[in-house]
Amino acid sequence: MTATLHTQTQSAAQTAELGYDLGQYVQSGDIIILSGDLGAGKTQFAAALAQGLDIDESITSPTFALMKRYLSGRIPLYHLDLYRLDRPEQLDDLDFWDLVALRAAVVGTQITEGATDMSPDAAGVVLIEWGDIFEQVTQHADLSITLRISGRSERNITLQSLSQRGAQLLADLQQKLQEEPETGLLMDALPPELSQGLPQEGETDQ
Ligand SMILES: Nc1ncnc2c1ncn2[C@@H]1O[C@H](COP(=O)(O)OP(=O)(O)O)[C@@H](O)[C@H]1O
Ligand SMILES: [Mg+2]
Repeated sequence: MTATLHTQTQSAAQTAELGYDLGQYVQSGDIIILSGDLGAGKTQFAAALAQGLDIDESITSPTFALMKRYLSGRIPLYHLDLYRLDRPEQLDDLDFWDLVALRAAVVGTQITEGATDMSPDAAGVVLIEWGDIFEQVTQHADLSITLRISGRSERNITLQSLSQRGAQLLADLQQKLQEEPETGLLMDALPPELSQGLPQEGETDQ
């Protein structure tokens, strides 16, 4: 069963709030896809999640490096960007399959001999911009986060679980936002198509 949450942010700072909050709950092995058009806020979200992990390095877009690793936080962060790839075979070049093998090791699934030469200690949270372009990636991910540009500084954000672990992350996040009404972020479980037309919480009739 997939769980879906939807919210709308009115500023980059509000999107960052969401990323930061999710950073409190992610664990080693979690694989999270970020999708949405150029400029939607994927890198913005990733940088805020990194802050939530207490990473003190600055996060820059991995569009050209394809994969960047940050080690200064609570757990390692692997930040990938598939924008420049056009064939799934190219995933081999950016350690994607090693990261999938590490995830299997962390969740206790049998890991195929020789699947990776990375140590299980290297496991971390994996964020993949444009991860939705290959089903090989979606198949192994826990959570899919889609950002849609709906105004100059307004974004519709949908978070969808792709595994049991992803559903747990969404439940944690939803509870956190309920306890923190001052962020102004509210989650609803409606599909975005339905909720787009609804008035936002706190909007008045004037
Ligand atoms: N609500 C919002 N959420 C996220 N980013 C926003 C928002 N409003 C404006 N922005 C701006 O949009 C841009 C998003 O850029 P970036 O994160 O690099 O996008 P992407 O990685 O998806 O291509 C930033 O300049 C950010 O300040
Ligand atoms: Mg980006």
